[in-house]
Amino acid sequence: MDTPFQDKHIIHGVTGSIAAYKAADLASKLAQAGAQVEVILTQAALQFVTPLTFQSVTGRRAYVEADLWGSEGHVQHIGLAHQADLLIIAPASANTLAKLAYGLADNLLSLTALAAQCPLMLAPAMDGGMYAHPATQANLETLRQRGAILVGPAEGHLASGLVGPGRMVEPLELLGHVRWVLGKGGPLSGRKVIVTAGGTQEPLDPVRVIANRSSGKQGYAIAQAALDLGAQVTLISGPVSLAVPVGVQPVEVQTAQQMHDAVLGCLPQADALVMAAAVADFRPMSPAENKLKKESGVPEIRLEHTPDILKAVAQAKARLGRPSVTVGFAAESQDLIDNATAKLHDKKLDLIVANDIRATDAGFSADTNRVTLLFADGGVEPLDLMSKEQVAASVMARVSELLQKASA
Ligand code: CTP
Repeated sequence: MDTPFQDKHIIHGVTGSIAAYKAADLASKLAQAGAQVEVILTQAALQFVTPLTFQSVTGRRAYVEADLWGSEGHVQHIGLAHQADLLIIAPASANTLAKLAYGLADNLLSLTALAAQCPLMLAPAMDGGMYAHPATQANLETLRQRGAILVGPAEGHLASGLVGPGRMVEPLELLGHVRWVLGKGGPLSGRKVIVTAGGTQEPLDPVRVIANRSSGKQGYAIAQAALDLGAQVTLISGPVSLAVPVGVQPVEVQTAQQMHDAVLGCLPQADALVMAAAVADFRPMSPAENKLKKESGVPEIRLEHTPDILKAVAQAKARLGRPSVTVGFAAESQDLIDNATAKLHDKKLDLIVANDIRATDAGFSADTNRVTLLFADGGVEPLDLMSKEQVAASVMARVSELLQKASA
């Protein structure tokens, strides 16, 4: 599956900070994600790590200061800078930040940064006092105003023994930031997409809830796929234990009513809505204010309907003309296509993703899914068994096409 990393040229600058050891993990993750990673180590970085470390994880030559002074060195590195899609400096030391702020080009990395026209991402790492120093703060402000993307530093234990801001943001999180930047400018750029995910929970009393088996994986993958195409994404999620993709605007909800209110609140700006959430259809009519006690006997719980969010969206669309594209999911245990088609029409959807929840390799907590896409114009597209990420990419590719048609 192609992600925004595929075949992108990334220059990864590594400067003199103890966090340089974590930079190898970042370079490895970038390379594994499909990017072509060229590492440039400063002289100070070589005190902490070696070029071999980076060559081993990227499969490409890592550059050091001596390369600048080779016969073709200077020209070669200007070329490297020109073809880059992103320059990330992680860790970025106070010294390198100062050089960048002043436009110095006194080593291979600062020279490359000056020649590069691609986005510049900086992950500062230094001691707390150096970070807090007005000179560093002013340099960071200069760089920010110039369009550099600053990620971190994070707070925590520092090598000096101090605790505070100064730690390099962890490689996995940096990877998320890189993915977000590389996705920008995709076919959904400038589009606002709302995604719902996870299951809702309906309280019985202050302790207990009626919940469902949704893991949220499919919805979170949809949010990531929308970001990958450059969309601005709001992810309205029930309680799940998943990391929110970097770049997403998260909205946490618990009940179907809260999800309804959050979705309708976002609609006036939305271009597309993808309802991947497993919304409770029923809720206790009157949740107990205090914990239900065993001694009081087995409680009788009366249920009532929750609002049907997609139906409310269809009504709102009649007034607002938004969202242009509405996508639902149908989790069915029998008569998959018939039931999903009925929902497609009933909820006035443009596309429904029909999902057979009886299959053991698909559905709620599995990492794979086997779905059929049903379109409002009668189109039917069965997809093979694939990862939830691949399903998400396929769904968002169709959403992108539908949005294009709608605005043609
Ligand atoms: N949905 C919704 N509001 C609800 C229930 C579901 O918007 N109160 C959305 C889901 O997010 C999904 C679609 O409707 O995109 C279909 O959900 P599903 O549970 O399959 O269908 P229901 O309409 O709830 O019907 P049933 O449970 O009877 O199959």
